Amino acid sequence: MPYTKIGAVKASDHRVTSPLKNDLKACMQCHSESADWLRDQVTTIQDRTVSLMIRSGYATATAAKLLEKVHEEQAAGKNIDMTLYDKGVDLYMEAFFRILYIGGENSVGFHNPTEAMRILGDSIAFATKAEALLRQALAKTGFDVPLTVNLELNKYLDDRGKKKLTFQEDVEIKDPYGIETRL
Ligand code: HEC
Repeated sequence: MPYTKIGAVKASDHRVTSPLKNDLKACMQCHSESADWLRDQVTTIQDRTVSLMIRSGYATATAAKLLEKVHEEQAAGKNIDMTLYDKGVDLYMEAFFRILYIGGENSVGFHNPTEAMRILGDSIAFATKAEALLRQALAKTGFDVPLTVNLELNKYLDDRGKKKLTFQEDVEIKDPYGIETRL
């Protein structure tokens, strides 16, 4: 907790807010580096992490949409290769729990950059393998999976909850390194 010295007395700050506010006073108790240097480190770590989070999120969502498609094919009476399907589901879950964990942890990599990037790297690996297996399963049913899988994001982002919230383009966080748009 950051504190202010008033004569010989230390007054702790009990406001719960981002430690990056108040000119990083919360950090200066331990760090002797400048506020600018510390802020730069934080944003660099978070930009790298968010880039992986976005890629992992899209890759996992792609696998989910393909699973949905496999279920439709199954419901239409098509024969599904269950070995491909089971492995696809398994890898999808591995990917999903990792991205969910990093999302819930909420520091966007800052608390432990190496660990966050390990988890997200693994998530991307699992999701892309799941996608490959599910594409193969769908190809075997005769369904031609398009190059880019339509995630139907508006279906999930618009008309949310009681307030019927809609997607706001101006608050979308895009991959700071632009990798996602190249995939
Ligand atoms: C209780 C003491 C303490 C506080 C408070 C603290 N840190 Fe640290 N910080 C450390 C220690 C210890 C390390 C590890 C140093 C090492 O490995 O050499 C560290 C490491 C870091 C690093 C990695 C440094 C590098 O060389 O890459 C960054 C960046 C950092 N802290 C930023 C912050 C920021 C921003 C805040 C405020 C939000 C903060 N720290 C608050 C103790 C603290």
